[in-house]
Amino acid sequence: MNLFDVYPLYNVTPVSARGIVVTDDKGQEYLDFYGGHAVISIGHSHPHYVKRLKDQLDKIGFYSNAVQNPLQVELATKLGQLSHCEDYNLFLCNSGAEANENALKMASFHTGKSRVIAFKNGFHGRTSAAVAVTDNEKINAPLNKQQKVTILPLNDIKSFKIEIGKGDVCGVIIEAIQGVGGLDEPSTQFYQKIAQLSKQNNAVLIADEVQSGFGRSGAFFGFQHHNIEPDIISIAKGMGNGFPVGGILIHESIKASYGLLGTTFGGNHLACVATMAVLEVLEKENLLENATQLGLYFSKKAAEIPQVKRVKGRGLMLGLEFDFEVAELRKKLIYEQYLFTGGAKDKHVLRILPALNITKEHIDIFFNALKKVL
Ligand SMILES: Cc1ncc(COP(=O)(O)O)c(C=O)c1O
Repeated sequence: MNLFDVYPLYNVTPVSARGIVVTDDKGQEYLDFYGGHAVISIGHSHPHYVKRLKDQLDKIGFYSNAVQNPLQVELATKLGQLSHCEDYNLFLCNSGAEANENALKMASFHTGKSRVIAFKNGFHGRTSAAVAVTDNEKINAPLNKQQKVTILPLNDIKSFKIEIGKGDVCGVIIEAIQGVGGLDEPSTQFYQKIAQLSKQNNAVLIADEVQSGFGRSGAFFGFQHHNIEPDIISIAKGMGNGFPVGGILIHESIKASYGLLGTTFGGNHLACVATMAVLEVLEKENLLENATQLGLYFSKKAAEIPQVKRVKGRGLMLGLEFDFEVAELRKKLIYEQYLFTGGAKDKHVLRILPALNITKEHIDIFFNALKKVL
């Protein structure tokens, strides 16, 4: 059997990884400034994370959601404390798309309505409703196009007011910093206004924090830079540092009932300890502060490079905008300088998403290498 050929692959075969260093099958080391699409939050194979998972595997790896699992309760408590979101309840699933799928479904259950407002260049995943609210025709099959979705320009309050005022919108979904799109952000004024208008029009505000959450932007959640309170927050990626886990935080004003949501694998024992380990390391190593400080250091160094037109993003969720397309530059960085970086829908943006415990020395290596290939 062959693999279903949907990914254009770089010719690199990682076999081990530690911290920010990934080693391939030939022994070549790479510095990872991308974390496999913003997933590696506390560094590859962090010793505390490895120990937590191994210890749990020796006890029990999985049982379904038909029995008690105190690890889920422990996780919800710790996550509430660290994120300052104690007024929310937690539902666990397995990926970012699934988190958004459940968030959108909850918005529709809660309001009894079905149209969703999303934003230009947003990315929310590849499952049925999540892909329908993603601004990319090419990844929407005819099946997905049946959903009622209106995609509006980001930061255009006029068009938002008109659409939300029609009264049939169940949910509004927005990223605090657009990841795949290319690091554009809603302004504080816009985010606050859509929060207010959503409430007034009985629509659920969904903060997609799949990429910007878990400390990546320097705050626990990206929306916390804007002083708003979403109704639902979706999480995944950095949450598990590579273990497949996702979830939604649902404001306690939205009530649960048996059977409303469900999953076989979501919230299993290993997923819970992987997430607990991430939270423990974020707290112990003060990584939100490190993301803020190192993000500022990175931005300062980037601003010294004449070819960089603009530095976008916050914390360690960053993009370097050039006036040329970056595909060739990424190839040179990986094959000549042994550095992993990311691309975006905006082909002029080089995405930078390292582990949150990166150091200044790593960043200096990155810029010396970048200068060589520019
Ligand atoms: C903001 C955002 N939401 C959702 C997703 C989908 O997550 P997953 O690939 O885990 O389904 C992504 C993935 O890139 C994302 O960046």
